[in-house]
Amino acid sequence: MKIALIGAKGQLGHDLQPALRGHDVVPLTRKDADVTDFGRTRGVLADLSPNVILNTTAYHRVDDCEDRPELAFHVNALAVLNLTRIANDLDAVLLHISTDYVFDGHSREPYTERSQPSPLNVYATSKLSGEFLVRAAAKKYFLVRTCGLYGVAGSQGKGGNFVETMIAKARRHESIRVVNDQTVTPTYTVDLAHHIARILSTTHYGLYHMTNEGCCTWYEFAKAIFEISGINADLSPTTSELYKTPAIRPRYSVLENARLKQLGLNEMRHWRDALRAYLKEKSPGG
Ligand SMILES: NC(=O)c1ccc[n+]([C@@H]2O[C@H](COP(=O)([O-])OP(=O)(O)OC[C@H]3O[C@@H](n4cnc5c(N)ncnc54)[C@H](OP(=O)(O)O)[C@@H]3O)[C@@H](O)[C@H]2O)c1
Repeated sequence: MKIALIGAKGQLGHDLQPALRGHDVVPLTRKDADVTDFGRTRGVLADLSPNVILNTTAYHRVDDCEDRPELAFHVNALAVLNLTRIANDLDAVLLHISTDYVFDGHSREPYTERSQPSPLNVYATSKLSGEFLVRAAAKKYFLVRTCGLYGVAGSQGKGGNFVETMIAKARRHESIRVVNDQTVTPTYTVDLAHHIARILSTTHYGLYHMTNEGCCTWYEFAKAIFEISGINADLSPTTSELYKTPAIRPRYSVLENARLKQLGLNEMRHWRDALRAYLKEKSPGG
């Protein structure tokens, strides 16, 4: 299959390239096609005529989205509609990535693909709008919600990732406070990329949740990072009330990979095993 990979330099985009080896993957960066330039994006994709358009782009600086809703909706919703229409016109499959933040966190049980979204902030609302536009307009699509991504390329949009931020702070001997009342499933982009490759080889279109298994608070995740990497850190838990941010975040956004399980395609490892693999990949000798 010919796959146009948009957002190729991002942390997920980076790990998708080896996961999709065997296919004709054309990596596209913002320089090749800024998705908010609808005409140019259409021109580039029409010239390529791919079988799959795989979109990993997002404007996902969650707090900044509160002040820049136009940009958030431009990248996360309207550009996604443009990609959907292009995919339809080229008879291509669209694979688009969404987020656990579409949920409000009032549940105490993992959210499945059947759970009702109820976003709490501008970023999440723009991403849910993108989802709705795909579901309303796309002829053939995969919509993949994931959570707490980290990968070796670091998040291009956020400047690093949580794991690297924690390690850098510890190395600078900073006192580190991390919220202990937001429960998530940190997900390694290598594992997500592998599962995306698996569903792309099927025609089981539709909505998927894809995260590593298990769950933890951000504080517990930070603790595990230091335990596994053997770094001494001055780490302590805090609360969302004390660590106020412009965007409200869900207190619980654990996703159940229900659809993958139903199809017998769920090979996600526990988040702790995935973290170990990531840390090993980052420093093989360590
Ligand atoms: N990171 C998370 O924790 C998380 C959690 C849940 C869901 N997600 C979703 O997962 C997807 C991948 O996230 P990620 O962590 O891999 O992000 P990332 O590392 O920031 O990668 C996103 C890529 O998209 C590119 N991009 C952004 N705006 C663009 C535009 N207008 N035109 C063309 N390219 C553009 C960026 O290019 P530049 O480098 O030029 O900016 C970057 O290479 C996103 O859809 C995100 O919403 C992420």
